[in-house]
Formats: sequence, structure tokens, C-alpha cells
Amino acid sequence: MAIPQVKFNREEIRLNKIFDNTGKMKYTNPGVQCEEVQEVYGDLMFGDVPESRPITYASYVMSIDGKIAYEDNEVGPMIAKKNLLDAGGASADFWVLNLLRANCDGILIGSGTLIKEPDYSGSAYDPELLSARKEEGKPTAPWTVIVTKTGKKIPFGNPVFSSEEIPVVVATSPEGFKNLKQEIRKEYYVLPPADSEVHKDEIKQKLKDNRGKIAVIVTGTGHETDSRELLCILRVMGMEKVLIESPAYCHHLMKEELLDEIFINTSCVFVGGSATGIGTNGQSFLSTDHPHAEIVSIHMHSPHFVYTRYKMIYGLK
Ligand SMILES: NC(=O)c1ccc[n+]([C@@H]2O[C@H](COP(=O)([O-])OP(=O)(O)OC[C@H]3O[C@@H](n4cnc5c(N)ncnc54)[C@H](OP(=O)(O)O)[C@@H]3O)[C@@H](O)[C@H]2O)c1
Repeated sequence: MAIPQVKFNREEIRLNKIFDNTGKMKYTNPGVQCEEVQEVYGDLMFGDVPESRPITYASYVMSIDGKIAYEDNEVGPMIAKKNLLDAGGASADFWVLNLLRANCDGILIGSGTLIKEPDYSGSAYDPELLSARKEEGKPTAPWTVIVTKTGKKIPFGNPVFSSEEIPVVVATSPEGFKNLKQEIRKEYYVLPPADSEVHKDEIKQKLKDNRGKIAVIVTGTGHETDSRELLCILRVMGMEKVLIESPAYCHHLMKEELLDEIFINTSCVFVGGSATGIGTNGQSFLSTDHPHAEIVSIHMHSPHFVYTRYKMIYGLK
């Protein structure tokens, strides 16, 4: 299945940058660049890529009360699309996601989103962003990295598994791998840990030898995965920037102090109740120990949509 293309109207989605703190961040690593990015968003810069893991940045659209899905329609983008006061703001939200996808080498997604969004296929759909990406030497689609502790109920019928252009990794725990082996519907190969030069070479060779098959990464012990180990392997696979689309894993990465940034697009709608937020199934941070953040930039489309980029800060107690 070919990756769908979606054209955006620059006039409709143009964003107004109202706060820019990137100078203070000393970011010198440019993201994807083209005329459309300049016109709609302005410069998008990143920090240096660490040696042992990729830069990690998450992206979500949320209601003004921090919900990322309605309870009666759990497809995340509805939080933007059902803002009846600014259709252009909803398109701009989707474009920002496209921008962040076009920038990255891997999109990390949870099995929860794959189940609730059966049409999900992680890639940038904007032809201009895609060609800018390709000009920078990147492949059409980033890796889709599916995280699962249990290895159960991965929806292998989803379009993400049937696109030849989208390479897929399933990252699981040792116990999860036992289940995955029973349920996996496609050919797969297992990558070793990135704990020695020999293993690093083996990872690179296996990628070359197994194009079109699913790469499986097993980390951690028992039912738990090890995110530091996973990110290390993704870096050896060549990933410099990874977009975190899994809300549960985003929360987990913050616990591990491994999430660098988060882009939150606020759609001015209110959801309330116990609808899903980021990490609502996880354990809350304590009043005595929690991540902080500093705003990198703020864009607005209208008084109904705000697009905020945060740099995470850890270790303050
Ligand atoms: N508004 C937005 O921007 C936006 C963006 C994305 C998603 N969403 C919405 O959010 C909802 C899904 O949220 P979610 O938090 O339930 O889903 P999720 O993060 O996509 O997936 C949760 C699953 O991820 C796996 N997982 C979590 N932590 C893990 C770890 N440490 N190691 C390995 N695997 C791990 C587990 O899979 P197993 O159960 O298989 O072990 C868990 O059940 C959907 O309604 C979706 O549409 C909204």
C-alpha cells in the first residue's frame, strides 16, 4: 500500500510565532528545511544528537483540560478536528505533526493507539515535506517503532504493516517476546543489544540482510522493557531523532528522564471526566519529584489554537 499524500493550503495553516526561546537553547542542528516550513512555521532547530541515543521529542494535540481523546471517539486527532471554531487550526495541527514526522528517523507508537486508530500509518503525508526530507537523504518514511510489554494483540492487519515504504520495529520485553512469537503474522528477525562493537556491526548487517521484514527488539527483564537499551539500539540503527507518539511511553520516558522535548498543540475545547491524557494509566509524579519544562516556542493560529514546544528539565527536587 502506498503512503497517502495530503496537500495543505499554506494560507489556511500559516502560524504566527509569538514567542521564541530557541536562541537561549543554543540549538544549532537544523530540522527539515523548505519554503513551506519557512512560510508556515519559521526555523525549526534542534540540539546536538547524543552519542548513545537519539533526540526524543513527543507530540500531542490536547484539549484545554489535558485530554488527548474523546471517550465516545478515541481517535486522537478528533481533539483538533472537532474544534468547530477553527478548521484551519485543526489542519495546522495535522501539518505540525507532519512536520515533526518529516523530521524524524523513527516514530514510536504504542499498541494502544494502533488498536484505537485502525487507519494509523506513521509517515509524513505532505508532498512538500516529503521531498524536503528526501533531499536531505532520508528515506520516504521513518521507522515505525511499536512498543509493547505484553507482545499481545498487535493489530497486524493495520495499514502500517502493509506499506512497503514503512519499515517496522516491534520492541518488547522477554515475556512479551514469548507471546509475540505466537501472534506475529509477518516474517521477522531479532536484533541483538548494542552492548559491543561486534553486536553493533551485527545490527547494521541484519538491517541490510532483512529489508521488508519486521525487526524485533527484546529488552529488559521479565515483563518489563528497558527504554535506555532500546534507544541505544535505535541510535545504532541510524536514528538521530525519534518522535514519541505513544502517550503511555511518553510518560514512561519522562520517568526515565529520557524525553527531551514535547510539542503540545492546544485545541480550545473541553473534554472533562476521565478521558485519556498523557500517561493516565501510569503512576502520577509526586509533588516532591516531578519533571519541569521550559517553553522553547509558542505559535498561534487563532484564539482557538496554540502550539507550544517545551524542553523537559529533570532532577529538580
Ligand atoms: N491527541 C493526540 O495527539 C494523540 C496522540 C496519540 C494517541 N492518542 C490517543 O491516545 C489513546 C491511546 O493512549 P494509550 O496511552 O493507551 O496508548 P499507547 O501509548 O499508544 O499504547 C499503550 C501501550 O503501549 C505499550 N507500552 C506502554 N509502556 C510501555 C513500556 N514501558 N514498554 C513497552 N511497551 C509499553 C503497552 O502495550 P501492551 O499492552 O501491548 O503491553 C501499552 O498498553 C488513543 O485513544 C489514541 O488515539 C492521542
